[in-house]
Amino acid sequence: MKYQTAVYRTTTKRTKRRRLLPLLAVLFVAAAFLYFFHPRLLLTFGKPDSPPPGDNGTKLPPEEPVDAPPPPPEQEDPKAEDPSPVEEPPAVQEPQDILPPGDDLPVIADGDYLLALVTKKTTLGDYEPADLVEIPRELWANDYPYKLRKEACEHLLVMWEAAQNDGFSFLVTSAYRSYSTQERLFANYAAAHGEEKANTFSARAGQSEHQLGTTVDLVVPGHSLSDSFGETDIGKWLAENSWKYGFVLSYPKGSTEITGYIYEPWHFRYIGVENAAAWREAGVTLTEWLMEQPQEWKD
Ligand code: DAL
Ligand code: ZN
Repeated sequence: MKYQTAVYRTTTKRTKRRRLLPLLAVLFVAAAFLYFFHPRLLLTFGKPDSPPPGDNGTKLPPEEPVDAPPPPPEQEDPKAEDPSPVEEPPAVQEPQDILPPGDDLPVIADGDYLLALVTKKTTLGDYEPADLVEIPRELWANDYPYKLRKEACEHLLVMWEAAQNDGFSFLVTSAYRSYSTQERLFANYAAAHGEEKANTFSARAGQSEHQLGTTVDLVVPGHSLSDSFGETDIGKWLAENSWKYGFVLSYPKGSTEITGYIYEPWHFRYIGVENAAAWREAGVTLTEWLMEQPQEWKD
């Protein structure tokens, strides 16, 4: 009887082991699969902070990365991170009083002038800054060597360090853009949204402050070129403090009728520290303030 019980137990153990083996094999294969494909799975389902490719991601083609502004309100992406409805921007009224006499667009005499009036009624022509330098890599939002004019770049770094000291940070997703880059960019938006709509968030070639080499688009992952950037800690910090470093928000909320562009809480133009302090004192939009400053036009 004891012998029979012992034989029975041994047989049962063997049967259990035989049943367990395939289960262990399946577990082993599953563990190996997870180990090898884990990063891809993360990419597929998205890490919380991973920016979308073509935005802050590193999967852009090696050409110059460009603005990716919010889609026009009626085409707003329902998956956008900021679920708050975006108001239809008011009908764009071109600034009427900034034109010097003459029918043609006035051509800015010197794009190096920090206070050059860049609007929909003026043009930089083929101006190219001569003193562009590369922004340090740790500020790049994409794997692309962003450039700014030397003085603007130095002040950007001071501002970045000040933000870091206050516990905030930002990245640069767009800086200097040549006439031809802006031309390509605007053409793409016009093809997608129509010229009129495109021109509420993208400048025509010759009319972008980015061509000055003094202007940056600042982002943090998850709030790239979106209204929501203005609600982030760093967005608020910049709106409050950027003037101390010579940077001014060109297109603040509610200024569409003056600037011709929608609210862009990410777009900062360097005009020099003293100028920025004087601008702040004036309490008007940058466009209005520049209209009061001396301007020179090419003959
Ligand atoms: N997004 C601004 C208006 C530009 O294209 O310069
Ligand atoms: Zn911009």
